[in-house]
Amino acid sequence: MTKHIGILTAGGDTPGLNAAIRGVGKAAIRKYGMQITGFKDGFRGLVENRKMRLDKENLSGILTQGGTMLGTSRDKPHKMLIGGKVMNMTDVIVENYEKNHLDCLVCLGGGGTMKNALQLVNKGLNVITLPKTIDNDIAMTDTSFGFDTALGIAVDAIDRLHSTAHSHHRIIVVEIMGHKAGWLALGAGVAGGADVILIPEIPYDINKVAESILRRSKNGSSFSIVAVAEGAISKEVHQQLHTQIELLGKTEGKAERQKIKAEIKRLKAETKATTMEVAKNLEKMTGLESRVTILGHLQRGGTPSAADRILATKLGTTCADYINKEQFGVMVAAKGNNTEIVNLTDVAGKTKLVPTDHIWIDTAQSVGTCFGI
Ligand code: F6P
Repeated sequence: MTKHIGILTAGGDTPGLNAAIRGVGKAAIRKYGMQITGFKDGFRGLVENRKMRLDKENLSGILTQGGTMLGTSRDKPHKMLIGGKVMNMTDVIVENYEKNHLDCLVCLGGGGTMKNALQLVNKGLNVITLPKTIDNDIAMTDTSFGFDTALGIAVDAIDRLHSTAHSHHRIIVVEIMGHKAGWLALGAGVAGGADVILIPEIPYDINKVAESILRRSKNGSSFSIVAVAEGAISKEVHQQLHTQIELLGKTEGKAERQKIKAEIKRLKAETKATTMEVAKNLEKMTGLESRVTILGHLQRGGTPSAADRILATKLGTTCADYINKEQFGVMVAAKGNNTEIVNLTDVAGKTKLVPTDHIWIDTAQSVGTCFGI
């Protein structure tokens, strides 16, 4: 019996998604004669039954292309905006899975997608996932495709910022994506030789940052590059958040809890303003002119790096092998030079943050990089 597999890409796009779709598709067709349907725009396409047949022809020529040929969205099966109302569409997904006579659904996504995929597994669907994100924060996999490309873009940006910072004797604060994890900022900071790296895992003290910049100035370097992860947080805000979260755990009254939740929301919003605040404060504290560069979605665009193409192709083709072996409820993870499958129950709801004893941190500190501590 010919196996029929569905495939979708969910969450933020990353370079390497097309390479992975091609990897799954080509191997599934060539090695196992499977039939493949791509669903458009993430889980929404499965709800609305918007799909396209994937074959040898349209799987060709996409290896090097950024984005995803299927489109993507951040829609969650259990909380989807339908006609202005938030609805649980899980049962519709199950119905469409059956209507399309799917034997399995391949979901390419990040942390959120892993959680959504597990929900579908719990509804009885055969689901297998692949890890993609520029943030490198998916649990149980060495890395995810998209990370290497984004890292290269951020490093290139830091290289370019160096010469202008140097010429103008300025502090340039560059904001790097990564959600709540510091992998991208840390990696780019080490590779780009940033003078300061601020990541969410190490709450910073702005005084320490200013001191390190002034020290550089005294030693003859009147410019500095400060790499800030978008989720970086100051020591004060971190402490305040911690206190509020503890308080919430002890509070029972509805009105009181709501007040605390509002405060937590406010504090979290405050962390979002970190980059601008850092630049403003450093200018005041050091007397050096400062500028801000927010790399934003530039880091997700364009062609995937060679490493991401290899990783995505490797994970994709191995995925076809696991489908053939009927291994479901798992994510195909990167493990050293190889791949391995891990249970979605061990991945969903977990985030891989930078361990504070990670060698990249030690490496950076050894060459004099300041982490604001
Ligand atoms: O998860 C990838 C990522 O690019 C994060 O680094 C960032 O916080 C987020 O997505 C941005 O999301 P959006 O594209 O929906 O604004």
